[in-house]
Amino acid sequence: MQEKVVLITGGSSGIGKQVALDCAKKGAAIVIADIDDIEGSRLQFEIISAGGRALFQQTDVTMSSSLQDAIRVALGSFGSVDYAFNNAGIESGFAGFTADYEEDLFLKMIDVNLSGVWRSMKYELEVMQEQKSGVIVNNASILGKVGHKTASPYCASKHGVIGLTKTAALEYATKGIRVNAVCPGYIETPMLERIGVIDDEQQRTTLENMHPVKRLGSCKEVTNAVLWLFSDEASFVTGTAMEVDGGYLAR
Ligand SMILES: NC(=O)c1ccc[n+]([C@@H]2O[C@H](COP(=O)([O-])OP(=O)(O)OC[C@H]3O[C@@H](n4cnc5c(N)ncnc54)[C@H](O)[C@@H]3O)[C@@H](O)[C@H]2O)c1
Repeated sequence: MQEKVVLITGGSSGIGKQVALDCAKKGAAIVIADIDDIEGSRLQFEIISAGGRALFQQTDVTMSSSLQDAIRVALGSFGSVDYAFNNAGIESGFAGFTADYEEDLFLKMIDVNLSGVWRSMKYELEVMQEQKSGVIVNNASILGKVGHKTASPYCASKHGVIGLTKTAALEYATKGIRVNAVCPGYIETPMLERIGVIDDEQQRTTLENMHPVKRLGSCKEVTNAVLWLFSDEASFVTGTAMEVDGGYLAR
């Protein structure tokens, strides 16, 4: 990771934050591209204080100009974008059947979780094509592979992320660029706290039991997969949607 530059959307919190910390520890320069400037600035400070290289750029993945700025800042400050983790994502905060969703909420979920990944890839791929090298990892979900009652926009967005991943992998396979996705099971992050799962013992146990390993995953466990996909150890791996899910999808 020495001399490499990693761009992380949604890097201020949860899984993205862990990827930022671990890449920084391995010597990479980190661009934290997140809408949350308080946590983003705090993380930049934490990495720099520990002797690493990091820069926070407030970024909204629903806006092309914002992503273009993030790429420009990455190139201006560190000179390249070698690895990208397209991870920014939101939960709907609503549990209803497909017909019960309001159109605005459905479209917002798609805009952040799916179009946001496409916008990120668009500008990252431009740079990586010029460099003739690069690795992209998109954060999908187990819900990118199976349905889940009451979560249709989330499931639709994450299925879309896997489709984008596979298609771009085919398109750029001979251009020195690999594109993969990770599909985490339920991971202990602020997202699950907001859904109320972490503090509600009954809900937590129900969720844990959906994973054959009978527990939730950690950010570190997803990060390990992302770092492997970035690395040359995964040089023959492109177009995959890797499950990091304690066996959830094996049932
Ligand atoms: N936690 C889980 O159980 C789980 C499981 C599978 C997949 N995921 C996916 O992992 C990713 C990270 O989620 P997390 O659990 O770490 O949640 P999180 O809420 O801790 O982190 C999400 C980050 O995305 C940022 N973000 C939100 N909207 C944004 C926007 N428009 N532009 C830029 N940044 C934005 C947030 O500010 C936050 O820092 C998401 O894509 C999520 O769907 C999470």
